[in-house]
Amino acid sequence: MPRIVCVAGARPNFMKVKPVMDALEARGAEVVLVHTGQHYDAAMNDIFFADLGLRAPDRHLGTGSGSHGEQTARVLTAFEPLVDELAPHAVVVVGDVTSTLACALVAAKAGVSVAHVEAGLRSRDWSMPEEVNRVVTDRLSDLLFAPSPDGVDNLRAEGYHEDQIHLAGNVMIDTLFANLDRALASDVLHRHGLTPGGYALATLHRPANVDDSGMLGGLLGALAEVARALPVVLPVHPRTAARLEQGGLTGDVRLVPPAGYLDFIALQASARLVLTDSGGIQEETTSLGVPCLTLRDSTERPITITEGTNILVGRDPEHIVATARRVLVDPPAKRSPALWDGHAGDRIADVLLAHLAAPSRMCPTDLRDAVAGSTTPA
Ligand code: UD1
Repeated sequence: MPRIVCVAGARPNFMKVKPVMDALEARGAEVVLVHTGQHYDAAMNDIFFADLGLRAPDRHLGTGSGSHGEQTARVLTAFEPLVDELAPHAVVVVGDVTSTLACALVAAKAGVSVAHVEAGLRSRDWSMPEEVNRVVTDRLSDLLFAPSPDGVDNLRAEGYHEDQIHLAGNVMIDTLFANLDRALASDVLHRHGLTPGGYALATLHRPANVDDSGMLGGLLGALAEVARALPVVLPVHPRTAARLEQGGLTGDVRLVPPAGYLDFIALQASARLVLTDSGGIQEETTSLGVPCLTLRDSTERPITITEGTNILVGRDPEHIVATARRVLVDPPAKRSPALWDGHAGDRIADVLLAHLAAPSRMCPTDLRDAVAGSTTPA
């Protein structure tokens, strides 16, 4: 059976890689879990391994934080010799973090099949580091597993070959379904003095929202206004914590440490409203049927708006507050996209193993040749 390296590096990777690993191992593949070390704090890392039942990484690259260039370079430098040593048949990368891009680049240059889970998502905001990561990772990948039809449409429009594109569904929702009962048994509401349906949950960590003190101050002001109607709980990401130390918080906004996976699902499931700039939380709230306001100007997950409970509200504080007040009175109806059904990991494993048994015609080298010889691969 093939040897498959599965890569995880940062918090939002852990819940995406687990169902793919499980499905591959259930089919007899040898899976090597490689952790790049992009996230390393106990609250950003260890608790997710414990909550998700994810085994300790087989290899840890220990790359840590740094500028985008530093972080990318460290992962490239550490992952390249590991690929040489392990000689895997495929490398699976998930999501859109810096580790995703760096490991895809190493594998593609080593001639190893690359599978990208969560392919095809596009915010069309090139100032987002994640958008650069998404586009380049897809370009390096042999197999593109889209979570939703919009991802498939984007990949087709960019000229990818039909053999590469697979509508797989959403692995994050596999993990949500697998853990929901355990999450609902959490005592996190009690610990924070909250009642089901009696609070709003907020997260903020995008550089565009938290790195500029004026922008962060405006968003915190909006949360403080919402908190006049009901308490707002804000688990604080390390990037945001560094900025909050500089002050600016008012109102009944309760700062709490970053939550583990089970506690955070419990907090979402019982919230009356979620306000966030995260990607994955737009998806989890849709699946849970909880109203979500996305505090960004674009989303790479438009299906959560057209077929879910998400509203792209932007970053104007007055508009955020007005929309929150409206949604508290008139919440969007619960809906969930097709194939967000708990079985995306199985579909991915089936396609990947079939691909490795009979390699597809379109590998990165073919794609490069096609681009060099014409304009787009057909
Ligand atoms: C990264 C991802 C983002 C994802 C987010 C989830 C990229 C480009 N961004 O952003 O898509 O939504 O993770 O958290 O990959 N830090 C710690 N402890 C840690 C990790 C980081 O204190 O365990 C601090 C460091 O000061 C670091 C900063 O947080 O410089 C930012 O970490 P980094 O991994 O660069 O980006 P995130 O903002 O976490």
